[in-house]
Amino acid sequence: MDFSKLFEPAKLPKLTFKNRLVMAPMTTVSGELDGSFSAQEIKYLSQRAEDGIGTIMTPACYSHKSGQAFERQVGCADDSMLDSLSRTADAINKHGAVSFLQIHHGGNAAKEIYTGQKPLAPSACKNRTGNSELPQAMTEDQIWQTIESFAKAAGRAKQTGFTGVELHGANTYLLQQFFSPFTNKRNDLWGGDVVLPGRNRLENRSRFAREIIKAIRAEVGENYPIAYRISPEESDPFGYSTKDAIDLLKIIVPYGIDIIHVSSWDYHANLRNDIPNGTNPTYMIKSALPYMPIIGVGGIEKPHQALEVLEQGIEFVALGKILMLEKDWVKKVMSGDIDSIQTKINSEQERQQLAIPDRMKEYSKKFFLIK
Ligand SMILES: Cc1cc2nc3c(=O)[nH]c(=O)nc-3n(C[C@H](O)[C@H](O)[C@H](O)COP(=O)(O)O)c2cc1C
Repeated sequence: MDFSKLFEPAKLPKLTFKNRLVMAPMTTVSGELDGSFSAQEIKYLSQRAEDGIGTIMTPACYSHKSGQAFERQVGCADDSMLDSLSRTADAINKHGAVSFLQIHHGGNAAKEIYTGQKPLAPSACKNRTGNSELPQAMTEDQIWQTIESFAKAAGRAKQTGFTGVELHGANTYLLQQFFSPFTNKRNDLWGGDVVLPGRNRLENRSRFAREIIKAIRAEVGENYPIAYRISPEESDPFGYSTKDAIDLLKIIVPYGIDIIHVSSWDYHANLRNDIPNGTNPTYMIKSALPYMPIIGVGGIEKPHQALEVLEQGIEFVALGKILMLEKDWVKKVMSGDIDSIQTKINSEQERQQLAIPDRMKEYSKKFFLIK
């Protein structure tokens, strides 16, 4: 089989990618206590860039301490993190990969034990599973401070040499909480039914994302690449559909988004069973916004699966868990040694060779990666 399409360069107006492969953002719970990237984590990311993956997304970095959702989460929340961010960007860039810093705020998923305060969210509403802490509905001031913190975080990414930033608008965290009717029950201009003349309710639920993009653009200028990661649908009947996600993207993209990253656990799945057979949410988004470069992801391990994504007209394909387990994915595909792509870790020695940080070993057991 010819996999050369995976290795074709892609030229966008603001940057060139050496190939179509992206390392999906994956939290490693291995930062230092102050939120800086640890040497282990930097080595792990750098090793995947060295293999030849064209784009490396960092794990989710909290933009403000109030958004920390994971133990040992990395951050980009203040200038004390500049050195750590520079070291991370350099370690990726030196291998010719494009580096994106993923900027995140956990919203109702933040934990008081890390942040020292009650979680902040659009409304005092727990997450879908009900297992989050009860958050406090954000005040107008807190909303603007959070927007400002995203902009400052993006400024730090630019200052320290990251090629671009990715806004974490997916996986039920704060940006998604503002968009979702399930978690945004506000009745003001950040979510309510009272709308400005000529606007609809989605304008309100998209306002947080729009203001963040505007603030980031003011901070980093027009030419700095910004990706937006979105979950294409919510399984909850009170949540949003792929059609809603498309409407949101159509509203926010013109504010300055360069790439859309559709966050699926399974690229082919449609949780709400509401789109045509044979298609999938990522494909629907690409069809609705054909002018936008898209990254698809979810359950892709082998090169023929990655190729299927590109053949649907999606420009980039992200690999997550498989890149934890295989550090030579690109080399093996290029040399035709596909059968030896590793899908589990058999020993402690193998884990060390894969540069998987110590703490991530425990964390990723949840994902059945390490026996
Ligand atoms: C251990 C782990 C950590 C993750 N952390 C993040 C994260 O920090 N940010 C994010 O947007 N997605 C995160 N994800 C989701 C992945 O980026 C990806 O979308 C998901 O794993 C599906 O792709 P895969 O099947 O190739 O792993 C994480 C997934 C895993 C397994």
